[in-house]
Amino acid sequence: MKTLIKAVALLAGAVSIAVLSGCESASATKEEGFKGTLNVVSQTAVAAKASSTGIAALAAIPANPPIPSDNKQSDAKVELGKLLFFDPILGGDASISCASCHEPSQGWAWAEDFSRGYPGTVHWRNSQSIMNSGYYPGSSWANSVISLEKQALSAAKAAVEGNGENDIMEARMALIPEYRKRFNEVFGDEYPIISNAWRAIASFERTINQTDTPIDRYLKGDKKALSEQQVRGKAVFEGKGNCIQCHNGALASDMEMYNIGVPPAKRWEEDGLAQITFRFELYAKGSNEELYRTAKADPGAYFRGKNKWDLGKFRTPSLRYTMYTAPYMHNGAFYTLDEVVDFYNKGGFDEDNRTTGWPKTKSKLIKPLGLSDDEKADLVAFIESFSGDEILMDKPDLPDYAPMFTLEELKEAKK
Ligand code: HEC
Ligand code: HEC
Repeated sequence: MKTLIKAVALLAGAVSIAVLSGCESASATKEEGFKGTLNVVSQTAVAAKASSTGIAALAAIPANPPIPSDNKQSDAKVELGKLLFFDPILGGDASISCASCHEPSQGWAWAEDFSRGYPGTVHWRNSQSIMNSGYYPGSSWANSVISLEKQALSAAKAAVEGNGENDIMEARMALIPEYRKRFNEVFGDEYPIISNAWRAIASFERTINQTDTPIDRYLKGDKKALSEQQVRGKAVFEGKGNCIQCHNGALASDMEMYNIGVPPAKRWEEDGLAQITFRFELYAKGSNEELYRTAKADPGAYFRGKNKWDLGKFRTPSLRYTMYTAPYMHNGAFYTLDEVVDFYNKGGFDEDNRTTGWPKTKSKLIKPLGLSDDEKADLVAFIESFSGDEILMDKPDLPDYAPMFTLEELKEAKK
């Protein structure tokens, strides 16, 4: 109980900061002038052709993600974005960077059920990989953010993520000569402007892609790219398993929202800090009193329009790179692909027969599949064909602070 009280006090602090600074992502995003052009561009670029059944076929991924017209790529911008992605100065207490939760050696995500959070909190959702995120028409489990630029902004400012303040983050960059030089070269800024930091980070993320996987090679005509087992798994995926219904096109995702029956996080029953962060998020996202007090499961897409039919729905995730991004689902409910396949095979129930906390919205498309052990193994082998080699990256050397003027210059200026 003692730890719970301590946690309440800690989070109460975080809540008041969050409320004061208005750092909930929805309000934060209004401040910047991004056009969100990516939304439109990428939908056309990755939209797969619907087949005669109305369901899109799997497709090879294009070599590069779409680039929004208001944020063109350049080598210098990507290089700057890389530094900023790894640099903890873009956060509240300068201890946590994008890479802290999107760690290259953990699948560019965080290998726990819930993501780590801003110091003093845990997150309430699983950290998503940023691999191939440039191809997505929207970001996050609930598809609630429309461009990578806005995602970077809301991540750096959201209370349980970066919890940063614009003016402080700008001041920190201004005190680092290397950033002054680089922002000037890339954007013409006299002093680094925060919205340009989000542009640079988004440009960097658009270079973190995996396009050469066994499934891509296979779909481009190399019939040897998949093993015999994987070819059998593909047949299950497109047939008896009906995974293709939602995991289709070049991303193996239709980018639509469904409640597939993922059970509520067990961790909320055991971990006081996680429970408190969950309540805080319900509050911050504008829950009514009843939902705030009684919700036992993540309402998901509900917060986009507060419609009851969206309760418990999440975006179909891409299956690309999933060999490296365990645990799976919005709350990290499953640690292996075998568990995921067992869950689908039972019609959206876990090994303890638990299912979604929002049974009314559970998709009718999810039903018991009757797969044999061999079919399940084939299916897992096939999902692995959406991943190529692991893509790693060392943390770059980060530039240092330096005084903006010498004591002599200060004395001179004061005369
Ligand atoms: C404290 C952990 C944390 C930090 C710090 C963090 N993220 Fe995230 N990120 C997450 C979590 C958790 C999600 C899923 C959020 C959700 O769905 O509500 C996410 C989602 C994303 C996505 C969406 C991916 C997809 O599949 O749609 C992108 C892109 C992203 N983050 C980029 C960033 C960038 C850029 C930064 C730094 C400015 C950052 N993140 C900082 C935890 C973090
Ligand atoms: C009705 C649409 C739908 C169908 C059919 C479907 N999925 Fe999914 N899939 C989703 C959604 C939505 C999620 C995320 C759910 C959540 O987090 O609550 C998901 C998550 C996953 C994940 C976890 C990915 C990650 O990054 O966490 C895997 C793996 C997966 N599905 C594989 C399959 C397989 C294999 C099949 C067929 C047996 C299948 N799916 C059928 C919609 C679907």
